[in-house]
Amino acid sequence: MGVNLQNYHLTILGCGVMGGAVLNAILKSEFTPYPASITACVGSEQEAVSLRKTLDSKVEISYGEHNTEAVKKADVIILGLKPYLFEPVIESVKSGLADGDKLLISLMAGWTIDDIKPYSKYVARIMTNTPARFGCGTAIVSLSKEAEPYEEVVMNLISTVGKAMRLPEKNMDAATSLVGSGPAFCLLMMEAMIDGGVRMGIPYAVAKECAAKVMEGTAKMVMETGEHPASLKSAVCTPGGTTIGGLMVMEDKGVRSGIARAIEEAANIASELGKKK
Ligand SMILES: NC(=O)c1ccc[n+]([C@@H]2O[C@H](COP(=O)([O-])OP(=O)(O)OC[C@H]3O[C@@H](n4cnc5c(N)ncnc54)[C@H](OP(=O)(O)O)[C@@H]3O)[C@@H](O)[C@H]2O)c1
Repeated sequence: MGVNLQNYHLTILGCGVMGGAVLNAILKSEFTPYPASITACVGSEQEAVSLRKTLDSKVEISYGEHNTEAVKKADVIILGLKPYLFEPVIESVKSGLADGDKLLISLMAGWTIDDIKPYSKYVARIMTNTPARFGCGTAIVSLSKEAEPYEEVVMNLISTVGKAMRLPEKNMDAATSLVGSGPAFCLLMMEAMIDGGVRMGIPYAVAKECAAKVMEGTAKMVMETGEHPASLKSAVCTPGGTTIGGLMVMEDKGVRSGIARAIEEAANIASELGKKK
């Protein structure tokens, strides 16, 4: 049997912040095979009414008990539920999954491929982040063995958020930290740069623009040159100059290990959360 990808129906079960970001990215993109029809599911009628005002009219909207039907007609389902709601919600729509040949693409932190497999053996586990809302997201993708033949459709659907890369599932806790929590770490660095600029007399609005543009430009330079950040950094250090002076203060204050350890800590917490559910 396997998953039907001819004129397939896509259902987003849990179309909130993350499910909505992925859906909007898909709606703005062109790729093949493109879903022939799409349903976005939420929990409450109230949320369904507010979603209707923002979503393209070609997307059907479903809520509450109607979601079993939306699951039943789906060939591909994106799971955008809060992790603690996965079990009750998936159990409530289980009869719609009875044929067992649906591709389940999970955006949920903490739920492993094995946890999801009782509902279908075709599972893709994704860790993405909120910049997906602006087409600049990062996504890490792991697949169950049975979902391997569907790699192309998963990568096409998920690449719409920005950049999608494959990793084995054992790296998912680290990806939860680096990719999922990463924007918060960058925002703290950006906030600190703005504070420094303001402290030295630059108006806040200009300092904010400068800090954001410096981060964006630096990221672009790393991506486009392919060079190691250390080599690009050393190229801008004039002997006896301002940059090397600032970098030495950063090293004295432990900024490098602070950031690296933050990623380690968040990954350890992700692994504990996975065990607790
Ligand atoms: N937000 C992030 O930065 C981020 C980053 C990485 C990964 N994630 C992952 O993304 C997942 C979703 O997080 P989120 O922040 O997008 O949560 P969210 O905004 O609360 O979205 C959850 C959605 O699920 C819906 N829902 C609740 N009960 C439902 C039901 N019975 N049937 C169908 N839909 C139902 C909710 O609708 P109602 O509002 O009507 O209840 C809501 O639209 C989580 O598992 C999280 O681990 C999030």
